[in-house]
Amino acid sequence: MPDLSAAAFAHPNIAFIKYWGNCDPESRVPANGSISMNLAGLESRTTVMFDESLADDELKLQGEPAPGAALARVGHFLDVVRRLAGIDAYAKVVSENNFPMGVGIASSASAFAALALAATRAAGLDLPEIELSRLARLGSGSACRSVPGGFVEWQVAGCEEDSHAFSLAPPDHWDLVDNVAIVDREHKRVGSTEGHTMAHTSPLQRARVDDAPRRLDICRRAILDCDFEDLAEIMELDSNMMHAVIMTSEPSVMYWNPATLAIMREVTAWRGEGLPVCYTIDAGPNVHVIVLAESSDAVQARLHQIPGVLEVITARPGGPAHLLPTP
Ligand code: DP6
Repeated sequence: MPDLSAAAFAHPNIAFIKYWGNCDPESRVPANGSISMNLAGLESRTTVMFDESLADDELKLQGEPAPGAALARVGHFLDVVRRLAGIDAYAKVVSENNFPMGVGIASSASAFAALALAATRAAGLDLPEIELSRLARLGSGSACRSVPGGFVEWQVAGCEEDSHAFSLAPPDHWDLVDNVAIVDREHKRVGSTEGHTMAHTSPLQRARVDDAPRRLDICRRAILDCDFEDLAEIMELDSNMMHAVIMTSEPSVMYWNPATLAIMREVTAWRGEGLPVCYTIDAGPNVHVIVLAESSDAVQARLHQIPGVLEVITARPGGPAHLLPTP
């Protein structure tokens, strides 16, 4: 009998140009393209074992049986893998993150990237990176960007079903650091999956999506040319545009708290003083403070001085999802 188990590893990523809203929610074809950086040092490790004797899929997250909603989402994803591989066995999935969940570091991105790789290998498939990225997208949109390494672009290609991500530049292309300033450790009240479904209710979403190709061009060029000033301006604009959509959706959501705003203001002021630093914020109150590596220690020290900053998690550009030896 073939070995029906495999283990894989993936990093989460931080979007410089954000994914917000889907053309097709079921297959997570995004309304606009996005660009991100994988986060080294932060990781999901996932083991999958298909077993004919199981009566259902099983999922352990951080050593505990996972809640029903998480199991259902993983089961749904495994159904796709089973269809692709032509097998019908259920699977035992064990997944661990080495970073806290629900703090604005997208654990679903690294989790589904690692799951896509481990599950396909366990099922006997060896997919090329593009197909793996496309598959990971079905589990969580941003997971398609955690499959390739370094600086990554996810293209929409006119709402095509084959929408996938690819690497723009390897991790050592540019020595950036993401200092994630944690101001709230609670799970976010409105998750991104729900947020995507509300995006179209904002009158600002159409303008945000229509302008996305321009922002993507500027961001892509800034990364390729290692032009921090251009990257900083477009990243902050894009983050602010996404939050403007979120605040003006129905129902309206406000992810920021006073400490979030304090950090945004400080970061902009520090850049005015000449520090190579900028911010971006996902669907939560914590702030990703992006900085050139040479100034990262100075920025970390300053972040710790801001009232409300509980912790700063640091990450450099990370590599692609890859297989691990099966335990
Ligand atoms: C704000 O990929 O978490 O982080 O596809 O429903 O899993 P699902 O959503 P998800 O959305 C990420 C939203 C974001 C921006 C981004 O990462 O591009």
